[in-house]
Amino acid sequence: MTATQSDLVVVSNRLPIDVTVDDDGGRTYRHSPGGLVTALEPVLKQRAGAWVGWPGAPDLGFDPIRLDGVLSIPVSLTSEEIADYYEGFSNSTLWPLYHDVITPPEYHREWHEAYRAVNAKFAEVAAGAVAEGGTVWVHDYQLQLAPSMIKQLRPDARVGFFNHIPFPPEALFAQLPWRREILTGLLGADLIGFQRAQDAGNFRSCVRRLTGLTTRGHHIFVPESDGSVRDVLSAAFPISIDSAAVDARAHLPRVQARAREIRSELGNPDRVLFGVDRLDYTKGIAHRLKAYEELLREGRLTVPGVVMVQVASPSRGNVSAYQTLRDDVETTVGRIAGDFGSLGSPAIHYLHQNQDADEMAALYLAADVMLVTALRDGMNLVAKEYVAARVDGRGALVLSEFTGAADELRQALLVNPHDIDGLKGSILRAVAMSPKEQRRRMQALRRRVLEHDVGAWAESFLGALAGR
Ligand code: G6P
Repeated sequence: MTATQSDLVVVSNRLPIDVTVDDDGGRTYRHSPGGLVTALEPVLKQRAGAWVGWPGAPDLGFDPIRLDGVLSIPVSLTSEEIADYYEGFSNSTLWPLYHDVITPPEYHREWHEAYRAVNAKFAEVAAGAVAEGGTVWVHDYQLQLAPSMIKQLRPDARVGFFNHIPFPPEALFAQLPWRREILTGLLGADLIGFQRAQDAGNFRSCVRRLTGLTTRGHHIFVPESDGSVRDVLSAAFPISIDSAAVDARAHLPRVQARAREIRSELGNPDRVLFGVDRLDYTKGIAHRLKAYEELLREGRLTVPGVVMVQVASPSRGNVSAYQTLRDDVETTVGRIAGDFGSLGSPAIHYLHQNQDADEMAALYLAADVMLVTALRDGMNLVAKEYVAARVDGRGALVLSEFTGAADELRQALLVNPHDIDGLKGSILRAVAMSPKEQRRRMQALRRRVLEHDVGAWAESFLGALAGR
């Protein structure tokens, strides 16, 4: 193993660092701790691991840099690559296709060309970074061609892939002009992980129907050029959060004081309804707002007894579907505010801003009813964060059955967000839920989320990959 090669290499679209460039062109590199980083940090440190990814701005290249024990290796992308590979093929073709075509996917050959070229770039960097017999773990839909490219360059390496978003049923996936290439790209991995058993099942039926390969149980048999047959395993590994960290934060006196302050700033209403999402059309924000607006119009909820807080973190602002969504959401928020609020007693607070971890924990603690109404979501970590933050055993979670989280969080009030009357009924039920019922449900939810944290997830995936 050379000094620059690592036993474990993680590959994802984004590198978990923030690079800031000051006026003189000087750069500061800071570790940016997302959930995935927290999960993988211990094992990356232990195995002197590396992380390969795009640093998040155009034409940003630098030598590999070690921060907090993890070597970050950049893949520099031009503005054109970002437009075609990231905003185009990843977020205007694959993202809507994999999320039930909520918005119509666009198929453009030049986007696909860029996707293939950028995947090749990532694969080359990853293949150069992994030590003899080491492990490469590729993440998410932006990099589905990378597994087979890496396998070709480095047949000695173990390759794992985890899809953080849903995998669509064959009837939808079949639309993709490059469907076989994507499946073959993924099949370069020795282990392919999905959020739900349903996703893994969809993947295997796509493989059977569109490539003609044979599957048995969770296994797919891939013939190699030398006449041998490779056994690829595909299974569900539901991701989680750093539950202990969220729980610990919610215990902090400053966070609990902030939660009380938030309630008082909201006018100490009887019930605070809360939603927090990346501003994405998959999250069902419009359905949630429609249900709330109708309940207010019908007088079944009234201000100032009830108030809604919606935090929408800015996302993919260069993609037109996201711009339209923002306009739609903000029009509805404006109508609700205008029709049902009064001076000092708004019906809804809307923040199009990121919140830091303390503020998020305080908001969760201040929220009587958490609304997760996604139309399709690989997992939905907000639902798990809410549960982990409710150290007081209170609060009610309204959770869409179209999220991966719904497979595990059975004691939530499960809803079909398309059924507006059903959603309204569940919101009213959550608003009226007795403290005793809140505790009973929350205790069971907390047991699941605290036991199955992101560390356990990473361990189970890497354990399964090591066994291949
Ligand atoms: C989802 C995807 C991630 C992605 C994240 C934020 O969770 O599964 O791969 O990083 O959204 O989206 P962005 O486009 O800002 O990276």
